[in-house]
Amino acid sequence: MAQPDTNTFPPGIGMTTTRAPFIEDAKAHGRLYIQQPYELYSEENHEAWRSLYNRMLPQWERYANQHFMKGISNLCLDPNKVPRLEDVNQFLCALTGFRAKAVSGYVPAFQFFDCLRQRDFPTTITIRDGSKLDYLPEPDIFHDIAGHVPMHTDPAFADTLVRFGDCAHTAAEIARSISDKEERMRRLESVIKAMARFFWFTIEFGLMRDEGGKGLKAYGSGLLSSYGELAHSIDSPEVQRYPVQLEWVINQYFEIDHYQPLLFIVDSFDHLFSLVDQLEKWMREGKLDNVSPGEPGVGEEDLASFLNAPTA
Ligand SMILES: [Fe+2]
Repeated sequence: MAQPDTNTFPPGIGMTTTRAPFIEDAKAHGRLYIQQPYELYSEENHEAWRSLYNRMLPQWERYANQHFMKGISNLCLDPNKVPRLEDVNQFLCALTGFRAKAVSGYVPAFQFFDCLRQRDFPTTITIRDGSKLDYLPEPDIFHDIAGHVPMHTDPAFADTLVRFGDCAHTAAEIARSISDKEERMRRLESVIKAMARFFWFTIEFGLMRDEGGKGLKAYGSGLLSSYGELAHSIDSPEVQRYPVQLEWVINQYFEIDHYQPLLFIVDSFDHLFSLVDQLEKWMREGKLDNVSPGEPGVGEEDLASFLNAPTA
């Protein structure tokens, strides 16, 4: 796909979440998958990365699971500069075949899961405003590269994401087999909601038992990229933490604009993988067709992405 002419944008113009002319241009021209125009990052953007990274490091050492810490070390991220996806991928791809793939904005649900199946991770390349470093609901490069990608260096975790991508294909295949249009839409919406909840309570906000089963550590990327919420998720008496139960997770609504009051614990990534297997089994058995209403909403674009999915 054609790339916008980066010469249109002066070097250092900035790739800030709220002000990124390169991204606005890509969106205006319908370009979802893009290249990272590294020269456009401003000094302020690098400074934001530096601040985010340096204040997270001691929190990670205390609260992050061991696989994440190994990933941080294996990726050789520069604490002082916004990472180049090309550099990240050299280390990442050699370990699990995963690659960070730059995107200009929201990737509809089916495409997102299908990317995971192909070991591509849709990656936001803008960075939050340096004056607002705390949690923001939309992803940025710190959330995606420092929060998600270190997990993708772990083979068992990477295989779980790929398996999740398989589930999206199963969901599309099942939806195609339902002849009544209204019923097809109703069931598909319920299945997508169940998948989104599963993703949220595991990949984004999951906790895992420590080695030896005593303490808890975070493996969810929403936690690992949030300075305040990471410690809160493990230490706060306000958070309810329960062993993961699939029937609960798929029926549990969530809200994205405050710290999570309820978190679920897995034993290991093999355990997580087995839950994805179970999720797909339940999908085939129709057990995801009537999950409880509530957040997250499923948009038209997400429904269409499943209905228009290519047959495997
Ligand atoms: Fe995320």
